[in-house]
Amino acid sequence: MYNYEELGLVNTKEMFDKAYREGYAVPALNFVTIEQLNGMIDAVIEKRSPVILLVSPNLHRQLGHEMTARLAQVATDRIKNAGLNIPVALHLDHGMTFEQCVAAIEGGFSSVMIDGSKLPFEENIALTKKVAEYAHARNVTVEAELGILKGKEEEGTEGTNESMYTDPVMAVDFIERSGCDSLAISIGTCHGLVKMVPREDGTLPELKYDILQYISDKKPGFPIVLHGCSNISQTYVDMINQHGGHIEKTVGIPDEQVRKAAGLAVCKINIATDGWICGLANTRRILDEEPGAIDSRCFTLKIRPLMKELYLHKIEIMGSGNRA
Ligand code: 13P
Repeated sequence: MYNYEELGLVNTKEMFDKAYREGYAVPALNFVTIEQLNGMIDAVIEKRSPVILLVSPNLHRQLGHEMTARLAQVATDRIKNAGLNIPVALHLDHGMTFEQCVAAIEGGFSSVMIDGSKLPFEENIALTKKVAEYAHARNVTVEAELGILKGKEEEGTEGTNESMYTDPVMAVDFIERSGCDSLAISIGTCHGLVKMVPREDGTLPELKYDILQYISDKKPGFPIVLHGCSNISQTYVDMINQHGGHIEKTVGIPDEQVRKAAGLAVCKINIATDGWICGLANTRRILDEEPGAIDSRCFTLKIRPLMKELYLHKIEIMGSGNRA
């Protein structure tokens, strides 16, 4: 059992209050390697940005309670040792069951997501409420989801389909009845590589800011979360393909659209795929360039500054620099 305060972590309440008031979003950054985690903390320290460490239930299982909690503690220690007081939350991404959320809270997470978005509306409310009661008794914040995002969540779905967007009227009802502290909604972003489908004239569709606007008019101050906001840089896609990989050309969420959402009611923006492809593309490139290498440090040492660069850019787009 870990207490998140002892790990130097905070929940997302004050982070989101400030982000909402000041019109920026907190970067919620997934990591699967130490280089990613170190690169993101380097960026956060340089830019004095609050950050949310995103850990999936799979990674939590893979690393185990101790490793996950201690990695988060190393992040907060590094910030403290730099003489800074930057808020860091450890957040369970896409907890699918009450039990996964309980395991995360016992493991020192300061925030959990319960994703009941595939359940019927009333069941989603009931599950979210159950998690919120358990979490709030331990001062842990809860994110819920309404509306299905394409991508990994909904494999095999092509194109953006109207019925997948979050219904804003239902979202307001959900916020009022579920006890969640923030809500992930679907306004056109999606997980994974395949995101936006260009129109026939080559232009890109806009995110549905009107859904966001409706919710914030009815629930001013309530933090909205956007998943699936990676930009999918063509540079990394090309690098992967040039060095033995094979992934399709695809269009991510343009930076300007993410920036606009961050200035509205969106207080948390999730990024996973951009970090993965930056790490993997450069690993492939370096391994090709150094065929005689026998030590993984030939690439790990070079990946960290590249990760830092990526996350500095994310902080800049979300407007979260100098907020801590
Ligand atoms: P991306 O796939 O766009 O990085 O989104 C990740 C995410 O939302 C994780 O929950």
